[in-house]
Amino acid sequence: MKVYVIFYSMYGHVYRMAEAIADGVKEVKGAEVVLRRVPETLPPEVLGKMGAVESQKAFAHVPVCTVDELTQADAILFGTPTRFGNMCGQMRQFLDATGKLWMQGALVGKVGSVFVSSATQHGGQESTILSFHISLLHQGMVVVGLPYAFQGQMRIDEITGGSPYGASTIAGGKGERMPSENELAAARFQGKHVASIAAKLAR
Ligand SMILES: Cc1cc2nc3c(=O)[nH]c(=O)nc-3n(C[C@H](O)[C@H](O)[C@H](O)COP(=O)(O)O)c2cc1C
Repeated sequence: MKVYVIFYSMYGHVYRMAEAIADGVKEVKGAEVVLRRVPETLPPEVLGKMGAVESQKAFAHVPVCTVDELTQADAILFGTPTRFGNMCGQMRQFLDATGKLWMQGALVGKVGSVFVSSATQHGGQESTILSFHISLLHQGMVVVGLPYAFQGQMRIDEITGGSPYGASTIAGGKGERMPSENELAAARFQGKHVASIAAKLAR
């Protein structure tokens, strides 16, 4: 059973969450994790102006995903930073390239799930995940979130991401905050949860 974890990250927050998601997937017997990033669409000079060149080196080794390999997945977890309350353009472009798969119904019945990062606590984590789900539903995917069985999303003793829609992290206005232990635990839970459901569907 193959579980794809496909992300875009500019400063490393979504990448850190993707690693935790992958760790959770690995907890399920028989689940193989395939970690991928979506193609960059911004030119190097723009990435330079955005201060992303150094941070992106940390995950430059992760292979870039092709649209065709999605057909091999039993489940796909997508990770994106919030851009104006929506997924980032790089992820949108990647999804828009899956028209052939939509025509073939190639993703129908596969599990789909989303995790995100935003700068601010209320800057669009939930809207980004829920609007992302629309694309997954058009592809016929079985959408899975982060159930309250992950009790960490009930916490009010510290600032934390995480909602029934999916794991999330708050990066801070300058990207100064990396995912907390609670947010990483949410990501591991979601990875394991998605892989467990995919395993049941694969039976
Ligand atoms: C063009 C642009 C739009 C953004 N829009 C939002 C937003 O609507 N809400 C928010 O909280 N953060 C917003 N951010 C901040 C990013 O979500 C943040 O940098 C990202 O979550 C960090 O994750 P990464 O290091 O994996 O890229 C925006 C950033 C950019 C560059």
